[in-house]
Amino acid sequence: MNGLKLLSTGRALPRQAFSNDSMRQFVDTSDEWIASRTGINQRYFCGEDESTTSLAIDAARMALERSGMAPDDIGCVLVATSSGEYAMPSTACLVHAALGLPEDIPAMDVGAACAGFLFAMEAARGLLVTSGRRCALIIGAEQMSSVLDMSDRNTCVLFGDGAGAAIFELVPDAEYTSIQGVRGSDAIRVGGPCRAQKMAMDGQAVFRFAVSALPQCVNDLLQKASMTTDDVDWVICHQANVRIIDSSIRRLKMPDEKFYKNLDRYANTSAASIPIVLDEMNEKGLLKPNQRIILVGFGAGLTWAGAMLRI
Ligand code: ACO
Repeated sequence: MNGLKLLSTGRALPRQAFSNDSMRQFVDTSDEWIASRTGINQRYFCGEDESTTSLAIDAARMALERSGMAPDDIGCVLVATSSGEYAMPSTACLVHAALGLPEDIPAMDVGAACAGFLFAMEAARGLLVTSGRRCALIIGAEQMSSVLDMSDRNTCVLFGDGAGAAIFELVPDAEYTSIQGVRGSDAIRVGGPCRAQKMAMDGQAVFRFAVSALPQCVNDLLQKASMTTDDVDWVICHQANVRIIDSSIRRLKMPDEKFYKNLDRYANTSAASIPIVLDEMNEKGLLKPNQRIILVGFGAGLTWAGAMLRI
């Protein structure tokens, strides 16, 4: 089966971090409430000269440089985002232009919220088969602060801005398993008439969905590939809430050390959280050749998706 191999990663964060205490300038909250309910200690928010576009471009440049690939090797540019600077053009087209990629390389945004990076990986597998080029540039980029209601303490403390990027190569006969799922629901929503409404979320409904979707996704991947949790080196999952991850670890009876967590520093960066984790792990030398990793995303839609691959 045609599978994706990870070649390189990059990430970009806004300059300014906001501690839990500093969120008290917006809403009635406390470090104790946020840290104990979510595991979040701080998040980054874009300043005036930063955006989903600028973060996506910075992360993409880093990943492309580190890959050693030429622009002509890239067969598609996909940006997973729910907070693009413009409804049109897509963020992907702006990244395409900034990197000076050839005009016959398709570029588009993928809207599947926090599962967006995984949906983009799946779309890239198809696009690469027809493009004749080797690699896909896949980016998760979000300026969640642009869609947050900063007077709603139920949501504004949970999210942050950031971008992560990865270059994947399509390899025939690579070990690769993937799944996607959708259950239509407006439990998390942004937009409405004239795109005017900021984020609204039924937090407890989403929590219940997430604590079942994450372990189910891991189990479905393992079953599809006829493997067990012992065969997996890392589970890299969407960073929404440490309680969601810890509950999944208990349900899966997996060692805590196989789950990388960094939401304490970034909060929930939606589609960007998985590639940001990949880049941090790469930088720390935690991702080693031949390891088998599982990626799992879940979020608004409701959507969920997973991929198991060898790196
Ligand atoms: N500071 C202080 N108090 C707060 C805050 C806050 N920031 N937010 C809510 N509260 C209060 C509530 O008003 C409520 O008060 P009340 O009892 O007087 O009414 C109390 O805290 C408890 O609220 P709950 O909703 O019961 O808190 P819960 O333990 O369920 O935690 C949370 C809320 C963190 C939102 C949790 O439900 C959760 O993590 N849900 C999943 C959210 C998520 O992961 N969303 C993103 C995934 S999808 C995507 O990424 C797009």
